[in-house]
Amino acid sequence: MLIEAVTVFPEYFEPLRLSLIGKAIESGLIDVRIHDLRDFTHDRHRTVDDTPYGGGAGMVMKPEPWGEVLDDIASRVQTIELQPQPTLIFTTPAGTPFAQSAADELATHEHIVFACGRYEGIDQRVIEWARAHFDVREYSLGDYVLNGGEVAALAMSEAIVRLIPGVIGNPESLIEESHAATSDGLLEYPVYTKPATWRGLDVPEVLLSGHHGEVAKWRRARSEALTAERRPDLLP
Ligand code: ADE
Repeated sequence: MLIEAVTVFPEYFEPLRLSLIGKAIESGLIDVRIHDLRDFTHDRHRTVDDTPYGGGAGMVMKPEPWGEVLDDIASRVQTIELQPQPTLIFTTPAGTPFAQSAADELATHEHIVFACGRYEGIDQRVIEWARAHFDVREYSLGDYVLNGGEVAALAMSEAIVRLIPGVIGNPESLIEESHAATSDGLLEYPVYTKPATWRGLDVPEVLLSGHHGEVAKWRRARSEALTAERRPDLLP
């Protein structure tokens, strides 16, 4: 998979080089290219924003640098890619909430580009124009406002990349986790490791019993209780 990101803060993407995603880059499972939007400006101040038409507070990202960087990305799309168009994700609090189901689907894509907006957002014509050249999506990380789309793009990248076969050493660990399609949408049960007693607190007896059926029942009950308490909206 090729992941590209367009941003005015390329340094935000350094953490992608760490941990499992970093190993996936080293092993060639994924490739990451970060583009500085300011490299596609032509004035001395490398201006990427301007005042909004219609008035109001804040600044809007100008369409011209976005047009140039997306032209550049589109011109390098290889026709051998199986995907007819790269997927272009605008990260915005006004987007569709990003969920595990989107990560599952996007993990099968070959080429994903994140467009990270700042200020009050990107001139809407960029999004409209891009639909002719990219499979355009608009996703929000959650119902809160960040200073820009970079943290959202990082979080989404990690959620997607860890689902690519070979990225996580033991693929079974993807099966029972919270929000996995295979976990009936329930939150994951609590987990414990050695020692059996720590600071006076014991690991639940059933987990030491060696009875796989009883362990599975206990885990299911804990998952259902947790989901009912914290996320009743997820219950079937
Ligand atoms: N940019 C600012 N806030 C955001 C959010 N919640 N999700 C995605 N992008 C954003």
